[in-house]
Amino acid sequence: MSPTPPEPADIGDGPILVVDFGAQYAQLIARRVRDAHVYSEIVPHTSTAAELAARRPAGIILSGGPKSVNEVPSPMIDPAIYDAGIPILGICYGAQLLTRQLGGEVSRTGRGEYGRTPLTIAGHSPLFVDWPPHSEVWMSHGDAITAVPDGFVSTASSPDAPVAALHHAERAIYGVQFHPEVVHTERGGDLLERFLYDVCHCPPSWTHTSIIESQVRAVRGQVGTSPVLCALSGGVDSAVAAALVHKAIGDQLTCVYVDTGLMRAHESAQVEETFRRQFHIDLVHVKAADRFFEALAGVTDPEAKRKIIGELFIRIFEEVARDLVIEGFDPTVAPGGDPGPDSTDGAAGYLVQGTLYPDVIESGSDSAATIKSHHNVGGLPDDLAFDLVEPLRLLFKDEVRAVGEELGLPHDIVWRQPFPGPGLAVRIVGEVTPARADILRAADAIVVEEIRRAGLYRELWQSFAVLPVVRTVGVMGDGRTYAYPIVIRAVTSDDAMTADWARLPYDVLERLSSRIINEVEGVNRVALDITSKPPGTIEWE
Ligand code: XMP
Repeated sequence: MSPTPPEPADIGDGPILVVDFGAQYAQLIARRVRDAHVYSEIVPHTSTAAELAARRPAGIILSGGPKSVNEVPSPMIDPAIYDAGIPILGICYGAQLLTRQLGGEVSRTGRGEYGRTPLTIAGHSPLFVDWPPHSEVWMSHGDAITAVPDGFVSTASSPDAPVAALHHAERAIYGVQFHPEVVHTERGGDLLERFLYDVCHCPPSWTHTSIIESQVRAVRGQVGTSPVLCALSGGVDSAVAAALVHKAIGDQLTCVYVDTGLMRAHESAQVEETFRRQFHIDLVHVKAADRFFEALAGVTDPEAKRKIIGELFIRIFEEVARDLVIEGFDPTVAPGGDPGPDSTDGAAGYLVQGTLYPDVIESGSDSAATIKSHHNVGGLPDDLAFDLVEPLRLLFKDEVRAVGEELGLPHDIVWRQPFPGPGLAVRIVGEVTPARADILRAADAIVVEEIRRAGLYRELWQSFAVLPVVRTVGVMGDGRTYAYPIVIRAVTSDDAMTADWARLPYDVLERLSSRIINEVEGVNRVALDITSKPPGTIEWE
């Protein structure tokens, strides 16, 4: 698969480049900059000054980082960048780094500051317009700036940071010891806006409408008149990507939705309704439940299940792609490339992929070739000769949702909790059979309904039902039962890397228990999973 990422050059004004010194600081800063409607990108600290300047940035932000500038080695930035005439804001580690590189002093004082800290303004700064003399900021530092470089002035202090802010107005270089990107810094958002609007002169032009317009242009420019294929999963990313590409190229887009029999309740109907009826998108709905259940018969090993589902999905997708050859669509020819061995002389195709910006960052800068395929059913193999269309590859998840809303996708799709590619199969411990999938689907629908009714759906990262393999004894009416339990799994999380079990209110749990046992045949007990991640995972398999 040969990647052809849309060029971010089309985004209008020069970006704000956020230099990454490790940890998660850079992502949060980049998101806050975008909240102020200015386009931002994350770049590695190993970029040379020439590489950074070549991007024609409106400004550069040096992020925080886990190291100390007094450690050897510690990450640096090419010092030539300070003379490039580009406005710079250093935050925490970034402020200490620019201080050190420009000749000031950073010392290990033995008195760090962590958490909410009082800040006192000690001089005029364009970043502190209308700030009160005292406010609260969020600090997280062990070292402190003890002497500013020549030509710089110190404009704020805190109990254990004698220089909590510094700048050199003519050179447009600024530093703050505290973290303006976190909500606990009272005026943090204002400070970033002053830097962006007043120092860098960025217009607030990165809006959801402008994102859509620029991506529509980029997609049109990329695919020309070629046919484009998109695998819909029912999840938000593929849905928004499809809607965006459809807005760009209309009938050139064909969506493929494979119903594996392992989808959530009403999912297939909703995909049909949204894409075929509301958007009038050419939708190939493959009803393949029988094939999946047949392939999964007798299989209980979690990894084996994932593998079987992933491979069958790919086979079905290939079948659909091959069928489309009839209309001049040949998945064995990359656009502009040589025909593959099985090729007819039809036109080549593009494949829409819902890759998001955090995936792009994680996979190492701008390499579009890295597709998250580790356990993603939508991760298609390399030998499908498609070029990739990735209209969301510059966006964070919250931006994707906002774009989805703007494009008119239903709330239910836009705000849907994440759902694993292999579907309900990874929540059915033991053998996956149609009957067991039905039990789980019915119980899961009740969980979703009650969690929504309680107003908790958006607050929770995920909330769902799990079907274990054991059965237990119960009594219902006059009779003894011997049936499955359902386990309720509800977690809070920011990124699924870690998660905490959700403290669901007792009345919600009570309703869940009574409804699941009364309404789902084959279930006589409800349990609650109170395991965090780590040591547990979110899914049971
Ligand atoms: P775990 O269970 O590893 O899951 O804590 C972390 C997040 O990833 C989702 N997940 C998957 N997503 N294919 C996917 O596309 C998969 O095979 C898969 N397994 C887990 C899970 O729902 C959670 O959000």
